[in-house]
Amino acid sequence: MLRMKLILVESVYKMNWYKKAEQYLAYHGSPKEFQEFSYEFMGSTGTAEGFGFYFTSDKNVAEMFADGGALKKAMLNINNPLNFEGRTISKDEFAHFLRTLDPTGEDYLSNWGDVHYEGYEQIVRTATEGEMSGSNNDVDLISGVIQASGGDAGSVYKVLKQALGDDGIIVKSPDWGGDQVVYVVFNNNQIRYI
Ligand SMILES: NC(=O)c1ccc[n+]([C@@H]2O[C@H](COP(=O)([O-])OP(=O)(O)OC[C@H]3O[C@@H](n4cnc5c(N)ncnc54)[C@H](O)[C@@H]3O)[C@@H](O)[C@H]2O)c1
Repeated sequence: MLRMKLILVESVYKMNWYKKAEQYLAYHGSPKEFQEFSYEFMGSTGTAEGFGFYFTSDKNVAEMFADGGALKKAMLNINNPLNFEGRTISKDEFAHFLRTLDPTGEDYLSNWGDVHYEGYEQIVRTATEGEMSGSNNDVDLISGVIQASGGDAGSVYKVLKQALGDDGIIVKSPDWGGDQVVYVVFNNNQIRYI
């Protein structure tokens, strides 16, 4: 009986997953035909609003980027966007993210010192101070880590989601283009094509 109840609760939760999430109708224009976004091509045109898969609320803007190619229309699921205007990630949260990203100190953290010589926590402190002093907003902060990780946005964003819950970027009226909203999602599973 209890097992039946658990299965029922689990399936209702799964059914409502999209309903609970924040959803946005948006468009992506591309000169290429493809089914799923790939990190492989990311940043080939630009990264004005950070690293990720770009969408816009303005169909005309997407058509311009398509340049005669494919226009995608989708519902996007972004629950916890990174802040583009300022810094809201605290030092403790950022240090927690870095520890989750590199639990041994041999990968990303090795940019900031030798774990065997200085000790793991000292390197986490140095990296936290260094990255935070070099960025004005949360998007820049995380983009710095992606660049220092060889541009591997897919892996960094997976850890970010796990450690702090962030899953996208939303920019209203970007400097380069009027009244649109630019949406950046980090994973294909946040896109539902319609
Ligand atoms: N393209 C849009 O509709 C759009 C929407 C909003 C903003 N922008 C602006 O344009 C700039 C660049 O955006 P972008 O969309 O060109 O992203 P991008 O610079 O990351 O370039 C990636 C390119 O690869 C394509 N691509 C992605 N997965 C692919 C796959 N599996 N196979 C083949 N091609 C694939 C994309 O369509 C895109 O043309 C951003 O800085 C942003 O400000 C673009």
